[in-house]
Amino acid sequence: MYTIDSISNLRNHLWQAKLDHKTIAFVPTMGNLHEGHLQLIDRALEEVDLVVASIFVNPLQFGPNENFNGYPRTFMADQEKLISRGCHVLFAPSVDEMYPTTNISSTTVKVPHLEQLLCGASRPGHFTGVATVVSKLFGIVQPDVAIFGLKDYQQFLVIKQLTYDLCLPVKIIGAPIARAESGLALSSRNGYLSDEELMQAAQLYVCLSACRVALETGETDLSKLEEQAQCELESAGFRRDYFKICRQDNLQPAEANDKDLVIAAAAYLGKARLIDNVRVTLP
Ligand code: PAF
Repeated sequence: MYTIDSISNLRNHLWQAKLDHKTIAFVPTMGNLHEGHLQLIDRALEEVDLVVASIFVNPLQFGPNENFNGYPRTFMADQEKLISRGCHVLFAPSVDEMYPTTNISSTTVKVPHLEQLLCGASRPGHFTGVATVVSKLFGIVQPDVAIFGLKDYQQFLVIKQLTYDLCLPVKIIGAPIARAESGLALSSRNGYLSDEELMQAAQLYVCLSACRVALETGETDLSKLEEQAQCELESAGFRRDYFKICRQDNLQPAEANDKDLVIAAAAYLGKARLIDNVRVTLP
């Protein structure tokens, strides 16, 4: 695997591959890699000739109260993991390489109708940070395909929308959520949990699954289901953020006759804010 930290060296490296008509898949990450990320690499390898991953902890997507400096950085271990899975190129730029101007980024990319809902409500500016860095990374790597985990479902929709609106020739693939045996979605944030909290955390998926079953068996009172789930999460030791039944295509609150739904939740446990979701298609 080649590890490259400058935009010009990456472009030079990928230039020959493009001349040879090799297809390129891109897996952007912020590092601290776990099995969920590595499954994105596996998926990318199925799609194309050359897989490029990136590790970049993006300051633009951290709010003023979020700990950018404290974000776990495990670069050597991440490199080993990517090598073991057969990734071809790792792009690992510095903040100065990505944002050379003093005001971090003068151009930003916003997807207004998606970015203020759900996670965007408690993390103002977060999705502008994500949309901006992903647009830049797409411009740098120019992949044919990019793979994102569906755990961050809102992020996935934001990226699909910006790709469509900016006419970027990149196919966006959502990869299934990787889960621990307990059902807990794999996440870098799980590293903030104690052993006891890790056990409690599995309750988030239990509540999402119970809500899915209720919808599938004909429950139509969506607010009741949402409130019930919030109460169950509180009894399991979580603090509330949101638990919402939404339309799968645009994250607007679902109505009784909608069929393609996503149940999306975020809740605080100890030092972590966990997110997860379950998609449901009703007959
Ligand atoms: O999902 C992430 O790790 C990040 O939000 C991403 C897509 C790499 C952009 O920084």
